Amino acid sequence: GNVHYYDFVLKETNFTRLCRTKCMLTVNESFPGPVIRVHKGDTVFVNVQNHGGYGVTIHWHGVKQPRNPWSDGPEYITQCPIQPGTNFTYEVIFSKEEGTVWWHAHSDWTRSSVHGAIVVLPAEGTTYPFPMPDEEEILVIGNWFIGDVNKMVTDAIIAGGAPPRVNATVINGQPGDFYDCSNETTYHFLVDYGKTYLLRIVNAAMNDEFFFAIAEHIVTVVGIDGNYLKPITTPYVMISPGQTMDILLTANQSLGRYYMAARQLLTDGTSVGTNSTAILEYRGNYTRIGHPIYPSSLPSYVDSEASDRFFIRLRSLASQDHPVDVPQTISTHLYITVSINSIICPNSSCEGIGGTKLGASLNNISFQNPTTDVLLAYYRNISGIYTPDFPDQPPVYFDFTADDLVEDNTTIPMIGTKAKVLNYNETVEIVFQGTNVLGGSENHPMHLHGYSFYVVGSGHGNFNNETHPKSFNLVDPPELTTVGVPKNGWLAIRFRATNPGVWLWHCHLDRHLTWGMNTVLIVKNGGTLDTSIRDPPTSMPRCEVPIVTQLE
Ligand code: C2O
Ligand code: CU
Repeated sequence: GNVHYYDFVLKETNFTRLCRTKCMLTVNESFPGPVIRVHKGDTVFVNVQNHGGYGVTIHWHGVKQPRNPWSDGPEYITQCPIQPGTNFTYEVIFSKEEGTVWWHAHSDWTRSSVHGAIVVLPAEGTTYPFPMPDEEEILVIGNWFIGDVNKMVTDAIIAGGAPPRVNATVINGQPGDFYDCSNETTYHFLVDYGKTYLLRIVNAAMNDEFFFAIAEHIVTVVGIDGNYLKPITTPYVMISPGQTMDILLTANQSLGRYYMAARQLLTDGTSVGTNSTAILEYRGNYTRIGHPIYPSSLPSYVDSEASDRFFIRLRSLASQDHPVDVPQTISTHLYITVSINSIICPNSSCEGIGGTKLGASLNNISFQNPTTDVLLAYYRNISGIYTPDFPDQPPVYFDFTADDLVEDNTTIPMIGTKAKVLNYNETVEIVFQGTNVLGGSENHPMHLHGYSFYVVGSGHGNFNNETHPKSFNLVDPPELTTVGVPKNGWLAIRFRATNPGVWLWHCHLDRHLTWGMNTVLIVKNGGTLDTSIRDPPTSMPRCEVPIVTQLE
């Protein structure tokens, strides 16, 4: 493979949206940020120079980084933040994924303005498993907050309440026609009649799942999260936060202008959703008057069945060139409840608010970031940073998805920095079980760093260990890196632990990550140099610099 070099300069930059101007941190003064383009097999060095006002890290979402957790990015998990006035060079190894993935800040909520797409083309000398598209187009779905995002989040944490809701959804940085002061800047995608386009869609929104559709056009989904799929033709797609999707679009409708729209799916009981639009515009001679056509195929805000119907159609290619490796026997079973909770504040950290705050947990553990990264602590055997006792099962069994489940003292989470440790090459099955504790059930897009996994089954209600595994798809399950655990339901994934390192896994709703819906997977070295964590680079950011604490 080839080696590429990129410079990412983090800088506060002024942007105007929704009639107001604000200053926010960006990479190279662009929003969304720069695109990285590579072939499978390449390596990229990204020199991140922080000219902003606070510490930041960058994560390469969906890139497995074999044996190289040092460049994975989540703050206090694999590194400490890159402080203002300093730089750090990430080495990003593209050896496993092919398609679209992305990069984003992995510290506080900075990723709302610091993110961009990564295009991984087929390895030199190979081609797509579908007919060569004429052109391609990147669509990054993101958010716009009118205020200073990190300040709002910090205030919410101090107050013990919910972090901010978004003011607009954006496509390639623009809210589109239906928002104030946004008409003229709506993103336009110009097409030629008869051509086929590969659309690379990234859901970079902080907390929102989206339906996406293009008026009058049926699309073909061919990839997700940097893995190919058996082609699916559909009038709409559903894309969870963190997911990326590759879609073929043939411009075969009458010359005209058509809205492309992203509409939030609401599963948490809120009623006001956001929409964003861009315009697909055919080149040519015709009169452009009035509004473009709106996609009638877009499901409603609350149509989670439309989301399920889309998801169950996803299947791996499972071909000779793109085989699957689904573990057929399992050495480690994890059964993990995913809950919204109220949490007893440690010490006196939230006195003014009655001693409890909103929080979230996995197996009733609400994760707390350490002050030195877990990777360094593991690699250098430093004690007191994390404990290796993340539970394999929830502490108590009850009807997890019952209506109006009230929190009682058996469901109040413990706060801790607990990791799950696996031996190299273990075969792992994780069943995520959504719960309705506090009446807080909703979809949770779970994301695992360092790996992709096969989604072998999912369903509504409580997981049944006797009956449900009988219907698992062990033949051609889709391979993803982020997957939505359905509201009040369960979802089972399988993978082989062949990437030694320290890997974060978490809900990709930042609201829930902020509340502790995450943990860490530590995969030990295998017996050889090739199956062991690489040596750390000499220039890792140091942890000693005091960081703004999460609680005052
Ligand atoms: Cu998209 Cu932990 O990341
Ligand atoms: Cu969640």
